[in-house]
Amino acid sequence: MKISLTSGALGAEVEGIDLKNSSKENFSKINELLLEHKVIFFRDQNISPEQQINLAKFFGPLERHVYVKGREKFPEIIRIIKGRNEKHQWGETWHTDVSYNKNPTKVIILKSIKIPPVGGDTMFSNMEIAFDTLDEKIKKKIKDKKAIHSSLGAAAFVEKYEEMEGNGNLDEYSNEHPVVRTHPETGKKILYVNSMYTKKILGMDKNESDDTLKEIFLHQERLDFTCRFKWTENAVAIWDNRSTQHQGLTDFFPGRGLGFERIMDRIAIEGDKPN
Ligand SMILES: [Fe+2]
Repeated sequence: MKISLTSGALGAEVEGIDLKNSSKENFSKINELLLEHKVIFFRDQNISPEQQINLAKFFGPLERHVYVKGREKFPEIIRIIKGRNEKHQWGETWHTDVSYNKNPTKVIILKSIKIPPVGGDTMFSNMEIAFDTLDEKIKKKIKDKKAIHSSLGAAAFVEKYEEMEGNGNLDEYSNEHPVVRTHPETGKKILYVNSMYTKKILGMDKNESDDTLKEIFLHQERLDFTCRFKWTENAVAIWDNRSTQHQGLTDFFPGRGLGFERIMDRIAIEGDKPN
């Protein structure tokens, strides 16, 4: 097995593990690597949808997306498609997946199907480091506080994108989570708000909440907390959605990255209630 660190903050590319191997030993190794590096990348893993589902089931119960329709034969998988002329892609700007759910996603397994020659890398950011390096004054302010996360409704996930298909659900809803959560497996503290879904810190007036969140979001954007993955076809990324944020870069500009398709298959595993 060969491990190459992706950056000094998080991420590792792993060689010598076959994701088709569904033995308990193989899975334990993958989970260990995941907890250590937070996001792990594998190249040239031509796994079938069934094999992707099998791998995902090791982590826990699979989750259906609230707004996006699953694949015809594999409803657990959603196909993320950026059309040739779309300037935007699903998952742009920093976020933690479905943090608006009561039990937000634990782990995501994303497999590349079609990758543009340029554009559409994915960036990840380490929210344990973001907490550790947070200003002490803000740490005090947010101690034991909760925040509201909003699902934003179907428009944000489907209508904005030409190729994404909705499942008919249009309801918008919110849930409260601690601003700082504790990782259920490692016990580490995680800064658990994100600029996409977190709307307000409870127990503060609107101005104080807005100012505090603004300061935290700016801190979370620090590039030294991140790593960046350049996709190739049949690559697989597995990330711990509890301790990281991510974004698909939308660098699809005329004359450069525009005019290419990007296709991914995503499976999400349900997590527990943050505390
Ligand atoms: Fe995402």
